Amino acid sequence: MAGSNNALPGFVNREQVIGMIGEALTQRTRPMKIFGLNASGAYAEKVAKHLNMDLTPHEEKTFEDGESYVRSVDGAIGNVRGHNVFVIQSLYSDAAEPVAEKFMKLCIMCGALKTASAHEVIAVVPYLAYARQDRKTESRAPITTKILAKMLQASGVDRVLMMDVHNLSAVQNAFDIRIDILEAKKILAQGCADNKKIKNAKKIRVLSPDKGGLERASFFRDALAKIMGREPEEIPVVIFDKLRKKGVVTSVTGSAGGTIIGDVEDAMVIGLDDMIATGGTMCKAGLAVPKHGGTLAALCATHGLFVGEANEQFHAIHCPIIVADTVAPYRLDKKNASKLQVVDTSPMMANAILRIHSGTGSIAELLD
Ligand code: R5P
Repeated sequence: MAGSNNALPGFVNREQVIGMIGEALTQRTRPMKIFGLNASGAYAEKVAKHLNMDLTPHEEKTFEDGESYVRSVDGAIGNVRGHNVFVIQSLYSDAAEPVAEKFMKLCIMCGALKTASAHEVIAVVPYLAYARQDRKTESRAPITTKILAKMLQASGVDRVLMMDVHNLSAVQNAFDIRIDILEAKKILAQGCADNKKIKNAKKIRVLSPDKGGLERASFFRDALAKIMGREPEEIPVVIFDKLRKKGVVTSVTGSAGGTIIGDVEDAMVIGLDDMIATGGTMCKAGLAVPKHGGTLAALCATHGLFVGEANEQFHAIHCPIIVADTVAPYRLDKKNASKLQVVDTSPMMANAILRIHSGTGSIAELLD
């Protein structure tokens, strides 16, 4: 074809073809589109706004037999050929949809986009469900985190962007595709640092409600110390000796209030966990603080599910409950909602999306 004036099908002449290639070569990145599945629409809108973009419209419905159907819309607006596409869906159950339904819709949408010739399909999952089922805890138990990862991969997902998963190494090992895991520690720490009582406190402690959360608590402590202009060793981490018997959280000694390992006397104590489900873990740990001579200043967690007996549990708590917006906090009653402070993770999520899309900058930079 070199030297000829023949045009490729669909183009008027050779000059036009050359012009198009030149434009593609000078373009720094591919086009991108962001979809927000209905259940995560509000969060996705916030993310898109930070990127000065609109969500690409999509169709989402459930047939009479209960099967889900999800796809991008017709026409140029819904065309994803050659695009990097981001699909936002947080995986928690709510009144409208159980988590299984949300997960199925995410898989269907990602698969449909891949079939429609998207370049890369990135699942953006602010809250990853099933992350606590990350190992065999009894005979014949499933490792559901791994199964979920395989299902996403099989659907055509090229990459997953998440926030604060229950067990980092388990999730890293479950996926064969690239994953990025953001952390809300700086945002939660800022929420605490803005609190007058914490700001003015001489003695501060960070409380991990179990041994598994120790590393997370110490990273949070580092972030808090940095924001407050203090040395990390000025804010030691203490641990609640949690014991769960037949699903009920208790402590090793079983004494009233349970045992805290570490000194909290006369300290302002901040509880920190990856998630609150029934609230048993956080509330038991929090209630132990005054028994050890400290003051509970705040309870912080990235994902606030607030399921089961959560309302009853939190009625006994009288400090701010600080959670991120990865799960909509609609389950708390009025009394508990008045203690709730929701911090915004959408700017960080948008920033990460931009970095993944453009292939520039680093995700680690967002965590430091
Ligand atoms: C467990 O190890 C997690 O980090 C959380 O502490 C736990 O899953 C919270 O569950 P719940 O609120 O029901 O105690």
